[in-house]
Amino acid sequence: MANLNQDQNRDQWSSKVGFVLAAAGSAVGLGNLWRFPYTAGQNGGGAFVLVYFAILVLVGFTLMLAELIIGRHTQLNAVGAYRKIRENWGWVGGIGVLASFLILSFYSVIGGWVLNYIVKSLTGAFTVPNVDMADMFVGFITNPTEPILYHAIFAFLTLGIVMGGISGGIEKYSKILMPSLFVMMFLIMIRSVTLPGASEGIKFFLAPDFSKINGQVMLAALGQVFFSLSLGMGVIITYGSYLSKDENIPQNSLIIPLVDTGVALLAGLAILPAVFALGFSPDQGPSLLFITLPAVFAEMPLGSFFALLFFILVLFAALTSSISLLEASVSYVVDEYHWNRKKTSLTLGLIAFTLGIPSSLAQGVWSHIRPFRDLDILDSIDFVASNVMLPLSGLLLCLFIGWVWGIDNALKEATNNGKISFKLAPFWAFLIKWVAPIAILVVFIQGLRS
Ligand code: PFF
Repeated sequence: MANLNQDQNRDQWSSKVGFVLAAAGSAVGLGNLWRFPYTAGQNGGGAFVLVYFAILVLVGFTLMLAELIIGRHTQLNAVGAYRKIRENWGWVGGIGVLASFLILSFYSVIGGWVLNYIVKSLTGAFTVPNVDMADMFVGFITNPTEPILYHAIFAFLTLGIVMGGISGGIEKYSKILMPSLFVMMFLIMIRSVTLPGASEGIKFFLAPDFSKINGQVMLAALGQVFFSLSLGMGVIITYGSYLSKDENIPQNSLIIPLVDTGVALLAGLAILPAVFALGFSPDQGPSLLFITLPAVFAEMPLGSFFALLFFILVLFAALTSSISLLEASVSYVVDEYHWNRKKTSLTLGLIAFTLGIPSSLAQGVWSHIRPFRDLDILDSIDFVASNVMLPLSGLLLCLFIGWVWGIDNALKEATNNGKISFKLAPFWAFLIKWVAPIAILVVFIQGLRS
């Protein structure tokens, strides 16, 4: 994997697997395991999943390749990359970097919840007879101090890893832990769909009720595609900047979204059928993962053990994503202002932590503060970053490639001057020039109006 430690010499990923793992590591995270199931639950289940797929195909793959192209072409962070191609476009990368920073602030709060659930599984909290999972969860997140402590630990883990450079260790662990997460999700899914009464949930998740598709559902799906694939934030541009010229980026831009979607679907099938079987409500929002799955574990033989294993894997998936979130702004400051990596990671990590504190308090003492659309502070930041800033940055990316820099230049980079075959090139060109920007714009306007 790239040694991101070095300030001047930009290294390259040492192996194909290294890059795919890092990019998939960035994509697969709380977005799949925590955000996807509850957003689907809030937005009509199958209807949401259907729209998600449509947007994934039309926008997700397209932008994944676009970001990899820009990153590899310029070998720079998101802001520098745009600026290198067209001097006055740097601010577009800036929107992404800012969004990644906002997301990191609350991502770390949720990461803290996961840490707490690891501790809870160690102490056997889920296997106490008649324990009420909802009470347990609400009791924890509404406490004013404890969740902030866990948020701090998660933030320190993230900045510690980015400070040291993300080479070596993470790559080694990813090779074992990512497939383990997949297997684990599969096992939980089997338990969940075989619970008595689960079929309602399977139907809810997989059978689309078309009448439920509206502007809000579409905007939620659009935001989810960006969030889940780490798009629009400069993260993929930054990771692409460490790629060598003979890497087949069109192929990578198919693999990463496929892996990501596979995990999201597994998570949905692990969580939503259990929601119905155990009598919870699918639209209860961010608490879904933390209330439903412990209840499933309580129904499994060796439940405590599985719970512990599961939350450790979730933590790992969350960390490989949060380091990429921090990396986006760190690489910007290191490249552009020539700060050293350690000082930058520490400073930005601490700012993100501080910024996350209100999101944590918003679950309890500050829950009455509703800055936007009657959403609490955490959900408001998430909405503005994921559903507004990311689509906007994605739209500008389409216009930039399709109409400013030009498809020919982009395709030269994608195919390494014709050395790599890319049969879908004309199709991709059409998508990035017309379909993706129009789709983003329509969904965006519909969603904001509804
Ligand atoms: N894609 C990650 C997830 O699904 O959890 C979250 C994320 C990571 C978003 C990196 C954005 C990003 F730049």
